[in-house]
Amino acid sequence: MTYASFPATRMRRGRSTAWMRAMLAEHRLHPSDLILPLFVCAGRGCEEPIPALPGLSRWTVDRIGGQAREAAALGIPCVALFPNTPADLRTEDGREALYRDNLICQAVRAVKDACPEIGVLTDVALDPYTAHGHDGLVDERGCVRNDETTAVLVEQALLQAEAGADIVAPSDMMDGRVGAIRAALERGGRCDTAIMAYAAKYASAFYGPFRDAVGSRGLLKGDKRSYQMDPANGAEALREVALDVAEGADMVMVKPGLPYLDIVAAVRREFRLPVFAYQVSGEYAMIEHAAAAGAGERDALILETLLAFKRAGATGVLSYHALDAARLIGG
Ligand code: PBG
Repeated sequence: MTYASFPATRMRRGRSTAWMRAMLAEHRLHPSDLILPLFVCAGRGCEEPIPALPGLSRWTVDRIGGQAREAAALGIPCVALFPNTPADLRTEDGREALYRDNLICQAVRAVKDACPEIGVLTDVALDPYTAHGHDGLVDERGCVRNDETTAVLVEQALLQAEAGADIVAPSDMMDGRVGAIRAALERGGRCDTAIMAYAAKYASAFYGPFRDAVGSRGLLKGDKRSYQMDPANGAEALREVALDVAEGADMVMVKPGLPYLDIVAAVRREFRLPVFAYQVSGEYAMIEHAAAAGAGERDALILETLLAFKRAGATGVLSYHALDAARLIGG
């Protein structure tokens, strides 16, 4: 196609008025694009502020339903729940993950009771339950064992589905876990439980505040680079996605968000399934600290970064700013 050049073409005509800009906008952010992550803590009647995530809190099980209702009222279709397991329940093998009445299962039931119309996503990984902070079972050398971990993750996913989770989201990066979880869900009569695979999850420096929020930062021995992806790699992300798709993932996720928009765009181009981006805790903190320091306007930073995910081709975004963003968009 050939385009007329200046002066026949003046690009600024398309930007001249608010109505023209609205009419020509290629992408739009809607509350239904957002998934709200929520942190759960033990106790009753409590909201526990998280200093590493200014403005966010952990909520006790009796309060978590209220958060979900607020999200639903703003048009947010789904919440993602993360437990801060009490320290005395964390063990080498993370067995609390398989306890029927653990924090996450209680929280799932509470959200479903309080707000049946909202979707519930749960994280499948052992890091909120292990004494060493890794996502799986470690051997004597501290190395995470793949197949042994997968066997536990399968049980964890089944338990979460039984508690009422609509989407289980393996965030552990073990090889083969999506297929194993899908098969177990089918066998267990849970054919309606969806899998959102953290398919391309990078070993990132942006997860710090999350690890504070779930209480695993101080515990983590070493790093997660033997299972999470190397930030240097892009093509490898497409292989990861292809494997998870072949194993039965219903949707895939790229994580973190903004620094990996190239990966979101590539996955969108190569695959015909929903792709989500996770704007992670460090990204949230960056925006909050930048705004607090006067480096930018908070609302504008929130909306511009979220819109960027849509432009890159994301179906939706997990974001700690989901409530604020939904309010700003105004449905
Ligand atoms: C745990 C998990 C992590 C996040 C989501 N699930 C942290 C990690 O892998 O260490 C990070 C989310 C965030 O930073 O907001 N498997």
